[in-house]
Amino acid sequence: MIITLASLKGGSGKTSLAVHLSHAISLEKKKVLLVDADPQASAQNWAAARETKPPFTVVGMARNTLHRDLPDLLDNFDHAVIDTPPRVSALARTSILAADLVIIPVQPSSYDVWAAAETVALLDEAKGFKPELKAVFVVNRVLTRTLISKDVVEALAEYDVPTLSNKITQRVAFAEASSGYTVLESEPKKSAAKEIKALSKEILKFLELKRW
Ligand SMILES: Nc1ncnc2c1ncn2[C@@H]1O[C@H](COP(=O)(O)OP(=O)(O)OP(=O)(O)O)[C@@H](O)[C@H]1O
Ligand SMILES: [Mg+2]
Repeated sequence: MIITLASLKGGSGKTSLAVHLSHAISLEKKKVLLVDADPQASAQNWAAARETKPPFTVVGMARNTLHRDLPDLLDNFDHAVIDTPPRVSALARTSILAADLVIIPVQPSSYDVWAAAETVALLDEAKGFKPELKAVFVVNRVLTRTLISKDVVEALAEYDVPTLSNKITQRVAFAEASSGYTVLESEPKKSAAKEIKALSKEILKFLELKRW
């Protein structure tokens, strides 16, 4: 499977979710290639900041021919996760075209719901070339004790893209993990790790797979 994290809205959680999803899939004893297609190289910097080798392979591949090149590079991997830049660009397009599944992280705000239209337009363009392309929204940075995320889920229903029921909460643990680890390492038994594992499970189900 090739899973692309895409959203033209900056800071929605593409890199965080790409890193955490890569780790969650690796824990299922699968070899994961995290492709950093963002010239800002956040995922590569995350890997470089680590004290230990990451539990999956991270490569920088900000090239416009990813959808053609990537399948050949996956011989030694079970799955690839692609992190993308927050701009309408050849890199965003090639990353979406390369995917089996596009995950669009959305923060619980109206601005993000409106901005999702642009990402969905890019997705629809790719579907013109690849009709089997699947896509989902994941609500990220949910504030506990607020009902905003419920409104956001209702607003997202306007788009022809389903929203996964598992959401990711705004947590210090996720913010801190950007310095070179994942919550699956730092606090594997706590809520943040549980959210990531539940999300990974729901994605598996959405893809109609029994195991990664
Ligand atoms: N659930 C969360 N809880 C707390 N902090 C979060 C969460 N998700 C992301 N963040 C933090 O928010 C910031 C933006 O997240 P991230 O870098 O993953 O977004 P992005 O979509 O990749 O951004 P860009 O568009 O700039 O590439 C980071 O500092 C990250 O650590
Ligand atoms: Mg990023």
